[in-house]
Amino acid sequence: MGRLEGKVAIITGAGSGMGAATAQLFVSEGARVLVTDMNDEKGHAVADELGDFGDFLHVDVSRETDIAEAVSRATSHWGRLDVMFNNAGFGGARGPVESISEDDFDITVDVLLKGVFFGMKHAAPVMKAQESGAIISTASVAGLQAGESPHLYTATKAAVIHLTKSVALELGQQGIRVNAICPGVVATPLAHGPLNEDRRKKFRDRFGRYQPIGRVGEPDDIANAALFLASDDSTFITGTAMVVDGGANAGRPWHRQSELMTDQGPIKLYRPEGR
Ligand SMILES: NC(=O)c1ccc[n+]([C@@H]2O[C@H](COP(=O)([O-])OP(=O)(O)OC[C@H]3O[C@@H](n4cnc5c(N)ncnc54)[C@H](O)[C@@H]3O)[C@@H](O)[C@H]2O)c1
Repeated sequence: MGRLEGKVAIITGAGSGMGAATAQLFVSEGARVLVTDMNDEKGHAVADELGDFGDFLHVDVSRETDIAEAVSRATSHWGRLDVMFNNAGFGGARGPVESISEDDFDITVDVLLKGVFFGMKHAAPVMKAQESGAIISTASVAGLQAGESPHLYTATKAAVIHLTKSVALELGQQGIRVNAICPGVVATPLAHGPLNEDRRKKFRDRFGRYQPIGRVGEPDDIANAALFLASDDSTFITGTAMVVDGGANAGRPWHRQSELMTDQGPIKLYRPEGR
């Protein structure tokens, strides 16, 4: 028996990357999944592979009516909603602080924060009526540590983590668990752009070297975390921001400190006199 047997999930941004991998894993564990994305071609392609266990709906997460429609589609087709995975995202506004326009600010916050809020808002009433449910949102290690990503991406991902905790406190007594996942560098189009296989390999080699675990993340790494948080394996876990980053957020490994250069050359390790 699958770990999500009989459960119904909505995944946003499921046409690519982590969302697509999660849709496939959830269905392999017995769930029915409403694949949603603003990219119809990619979303349809993922849903088609899921057969009778998948369905596709065009959803732009920055539009509340789209999210509301997704929840009613899942419940009208399949009668319930057990997992809401607020995962859609993009890089958002880039550049120095003085260069970011109000429009760029708005679209970044609309997708990365408001989209997550709408998912929580519209999943909650259905889950309350069922007295069960798991809401999962994709934040980022950028929400824990500044300097990883552009300003607004960093700020909205931090907000997603805090919103997760706040809503978890409200919904816990009603059987609804609310958690976030904080991925590190994961090989998806968001991180490496539309690359061919050769350039994807170069991306993996280059960034993999900087991860304590020696490789970049793959979409399946995040799908496995989402499965854990969606399933009954995590019934005592709510309000968390689960870091899935190959150890990068733990800090800089001490044995690589000497790679830091100073004016006098590499930093020397301190040794007591005579040793
Ligand atoms: N890849 C990484 O290194 C990384 C690291 C940390 C966090 N994340 C987060 O992971 C999540 C998934 O990203 P991914 O890496 O799988 O990227 P991806 O580009 O492979 O997939 C993102 C999907 O979201 C969709 N999308 C974008 N804006 C949307 C909108 N307004 N409405 C609906 N769908 C929309 C895109 O069409 C795409 O299919 C994002 O929230 C991202 O911020 C990614």
